[in-house]
Amino acid sequence: MHIDTISTAPFTDQKPGTSGLRKKVRVIVQPHYLENFVESVFDALPSLTGSTLVLGGDGRYFNRQAAQIIIKMAAAHGVAKVLIGQGALLSTPAASCLIRKYKAEGGFILSASHNPGGPDEDFGIKFNASNGGPASEQITNEIYQRSLSISEYQIAAIEDVDIDSLGTRAVGPMTLEVIDPVTDYAELMEELFDLDLIAQALKEDRLSIVFDAMHAITGPYAHRLLSGRLGAPVSAVMNAIPLEDFGGGHPDPNLVHAHALAERMYQPGAPTLGAASDGDGDRNMIMGDHFFVTPSDSLAVLAANLHHLKGYRAGLKGVARSMPTSQAVDRVAKRLGIDAYETPTGWKFFGNLLDAGKITLCGEESFGTGSDHVREKDGLWAVLAWLNLIAVRQQSVADIVREHWKIFGRDYYSRHDYEGMPSAIGDSIMSLLRGQLSDLVGQQWGDNKVAIADDFSYHDPVDGSISPHQGVRIIFTNGSRIVFRLSGTGTEGATLRIYLERFEPDAKEHGHDPQKALADLIELAEQLGEVRARSNMKVPTVIT
Ligand code: G1P
Ligand code: ZN
Repeated sequence: MHIDTISTAPFTDQKPGTSGLRKKVRVIVQPHYLENFVESVFDALPSLTGSTLVLGGDGRYFNRQAAQIIIKMAAAHGVAKVLIGQGALLSTPAASCLIRKYKAEGGFILSASHNPGGPDEDFGIKFNASNGGPASEQITNEIYQRSLSISEYQIAAIEDVDIDSLGTRAVGPMTLEVIDPVTDYAELMEELFDLDLIAQALKEDRLSIVFDAMHAITGPYAHRLLSGRLGAPVSAVMNAIPLEDFGGGHPDPNLVHAHALAERMYQPGAPTLGAASDGDGDRNMIMGDHFFVTPSDSLAVLAANLHHLKGYRAGLKGVARSMPTSQAVDRVAKRLGIDAYETPTGWKFFGNLLDAGKITLCGEESFGTGSDHVREKDGLWAVLAWLNLIAVRQQSVADIVREHWKIFGRDYYSRHDYEGMPSAIGDSIMSLLRGQLSDLVGQQWGDNKVAIADDFSYHDPVDGSISPHQGVRIIFTNGSRIVFRLSGTGTEGATLRIYLERFEPDAKEHGHDPQKALADLIELAEQLGEVRARSNMKVPTVIT
């Protein structure tokens, strides 16, 4: 096998964000662009030589081409074996599962998650480490530094390889094994959940489900598990075929983008459970008959109930949530007498806690939930967990959540996103907020008196690392919170996120519309951050 050494020059914008490197396709397809990034990974991680690597992606436009480039570069860098999902497909949680199961040194996941796909849309690449989780900030910083000084890369001078027929083949001295993308993941789900119990409930019509795969990667996984294993009708999986452009949609499971599913759940005779996942299969949205479960509540309900489920009978070691996620799960942890950790936004911060055995369950307000079974959030895992829970408790989704609120109180919660504003305006809003922090403590608006105002800084209890500037928090003495931060996953301009939360212990007050229950905090957020005024946007672009 001949190896070409190609001269190149650095691109200055290859700093991985919240979840890997995400760019417009037109940026990624520039000559040498992807190769530079992949070379930087190999340069930063010499341990990849002689090791096994996992490779796959969400099937978006350029997925197959990128996989070919990575295979050729892996061969050039002396990787012993690449394990690839058939057709270069793997959901993010399945990739994490494979890395762990086959003791790979890491993996490349090709995805821009919930961002749209297609020639004019987004692409992404992420490196996961040997624990199956997103590379730590230390590693991503090292990759970025390498990308700034790169002058050449190495790639095998070979034809494209067959990534569509199952089986093992040689790529020079390297082995390429094309595997079924679903099988190992499905086996793991079998260990964690009582699938027979769910199948029985479906068969007896005590339970019904509709799942929206949003033309993205979970189609084949949902098809195999929900229809094949559990016996739900094939029609229970909507938009099941992964498409390169996700059918022109935005594969983000929320009420705005999964509106067809949401509509169905508010019609007479809606199924017991409605659920959706995102582009790469790590997010989940959970709905019941005429009921939407906020992700923060879903996390709290799972924390309170997970011990009912097969793989979790030993109980929870601890829980973690990202800082902007509501405090609902903290209340459960307190009652269970287990630790609750608060981490910055992004799944990578859960990795150390999971590896150290400090937590079993973790989640984010952004439709992400997962456990120690892999090191990524896991969309179908959450759907199966809810199905299993409904089958065990034999209650509707709404009843399970309302009962939870009765015991623990309700955290009214909403996130307001202002997408696509010029970066300078996003930065000016954050500086305005940071400038006020020292004067805010003690100030009062209505019932809301500021107890803490800071820019969240995370001290990792496992490795001692510090991650500063993770978002502005304004916490009131009554437990309400307003959090502001800039998104780290966008590819153009800035997205400002405002997270709003109010605790209501009184069950008689649990039936309100969250936007109304949060109205005073919404106005206060505008007064403090001037988001609408400065961005000239009258309303948020997405409310979840
Ligand atoms: C967003 C979410 C965050 C999630 C990430 C990847 O990041 O807010 O919770 O981990 O996507 O799915 P952001 O754009 O806010 O940086
Ligand atoms: Zn995702």
